[in-house]
Amino acid sequence: MHLHFSDQGTRADFREVLKHTPGSHVYTCGPEAYMQAVLDAAEANGFPEDTRHMEYFTVPEQPEYENHPFILKLAKSGRKILVPAEKTATEALAESGIHVDVKCSDGICGVCKCGLVSGEAEHRDFVLSNKQRKGSIILCQSRAQEPDGVLEIDL
Ligand code: FES
Repeated sequence: MHLHFSDQGTRADFREVLKHTPGSHVYTCGPEAYMQAVLDAAEANGFPEDTRHMEYFTVPEQPEYENHPFILKLAKSGRKILVPAEKTATEALAESGIHVDVKCSDGICGVCKCGLVSGEAEHRDFVLSNKQRKGSIILCQSRAQEPDGVLEIDL
């Protein structure tokens, strides 16, 4: 472990500190500008996108999303659950008796991550890498991309 304190003159030079070795990952949390500096240095030093991770303390600004109803198809049973426009997938699942662990409900912690088997998702989280989004979804925020779209999930 290396500690760096700006007020003691030991501020970290991220490009020096973050040396990529095969299999290594970078995790960062803190203010957005700080995290971006860490991730920019990691990218410049050769860390692939799926090895760069960040966790927000608070929910960052989001685009103006429009909610529409969609369908969750449970891969294990084939059961279909309607998610109305005014509810999240985790809420609709809970009302159908299917428990999913939830912590932040804001798409920043990753606790409600679930396998995405098929379907086009509108990923609204701040935690998954682009690579992870190909096979996973954050159920507390993300939805189907199209109205009445079907997302098959690994439940
Ligand atoms: S509960 Fe935190 S990302 Fe869904």
